[in-house]
Amino acid sequence: MTRVAFIGWRGMVGSVLLARMQAEGDFKALEPVFFSTSAAGGDPPDVGVPAPPLGDAHDLEALADFPVIVTCQGGDYTKAVHPRLRAMGWRGYWIDAASALRMAPTSTLILDPVNGAQVQAAIAGGARDLIGANCTVGLMLVATVGLFRAGLVEWVTAMTYQAASGAGAANMRELVEQMGYLAGQAPHPAEGALALDRAVQAAFGHPAFPDAAFGHPLAGNVLPWIDTALPSGQSREEWKAQVEANKLLGLDPPVPIDGTCVRVGALRCHSQGLTIKLKKAAPLDEIEALIAEANPWVEVVPNTREDSLARLTPAAVGGTLRVPIGRLRKMTLGDTYLNAFTVGDQLLWGAAEPLRCALQQVLAVSA
Ligand code: HSE
Repeated sequence: MTRVAFIGWRGMVGSVLLARMQAEGDFKALEPVFFSTSAAGGDPPDVGVPAPPLGDAHDLEALADFPVIVTCQGGDYTKAVHPRLRAMGWRGYWIDAASALRMAPTSTLILDPVNGAQVQAAIAGGARDLIGANCTVGLMLVATVGLFRAGLVEWVTAMTYQAASGAGAANMRELVEQMGYLAGQAPHPAEGALALDRAVQAAFGHPAFPDAAFGHPLAGNVLPWIDTALPSGQSREEWKAQVEANKLLGLDPPVPIDGTCVRVGALRCHSQGLTIKLKKAAPLDEIEALIAEANPWVEVVPNTREDSLARLTPAAVGGTLRVPIGRLRKMTLGDTYLNAFTVGDQLLWGAAEPLRCALQQVLAVSA
């Protein structure tokens, strides 16, 4: 059985990955060894199969002994460890959730429902760095890949509604704490809605308001900037859409994709409002069929009020692998302008599940 080193399994993406692997019985087909940056020698997590005590995640000699390393530890760890392992001549598979290596020419982006066949071919051709894409980009493509494959897409704008989980576990907790704090400030209903609003505004500026993680209110608010600034005026999160989507799809010339990325008070599902400029005025039923048939995870939601509110929300999708897309209609801008709204769990297809699928592919050729 193939020995697989796991690093960063305690964090949110890592925990979701281990839970999915356990649910699918993946651990029966490999020999896991868990590493830690802080607790080497400690007990491994219980994944239903035996594992030795935790290894030291900075012990390069130990890591180089593994044919496969899976890391959710983050970009700083990747930058510190990956180049040194490669410099030592290590030829194993590096499967990574972090963004650090995504755009390196030697990296293959992994997103099974979108490019599983290309990943398989890349592995056969010697690809060894298999890197998960940005969650927003990945979820947009799981939902829309049918249109890209049909060559129908001229350009896309993506206006995002990104969940707190994308910023980290502490941010998820802080969002709920902010909600609790605001609820605690609510005056008696008899005082009316304007008194409620005044109390919330006062709470936002109060020193006791919990905002250490975000630095701003997210509850009762939206934050129209995610990640660092680039000279183009885009945030880095916005920049990723075009470069990563085109790399994932192998498109040349690239399809332009741009928009505004916004943090909202959802917990773990990223939503996106898309304007898709079509190359030709394909009929809506054809578009819906192309989208629905592209992979087993995308779901076309009828463009009705009832279906949209019941099935096309973070509340309906969180914790599932489904990636619904709805609000599909031709816009009044013209017959080649398609409106869409899509929702996906950013910890599942947005982060952990592509790693799981890539690991399966690697194990299939390593056995
Ligand atoms: N960058 C994403 C976000 C998370 O901030 O929501 C993971 O790609």
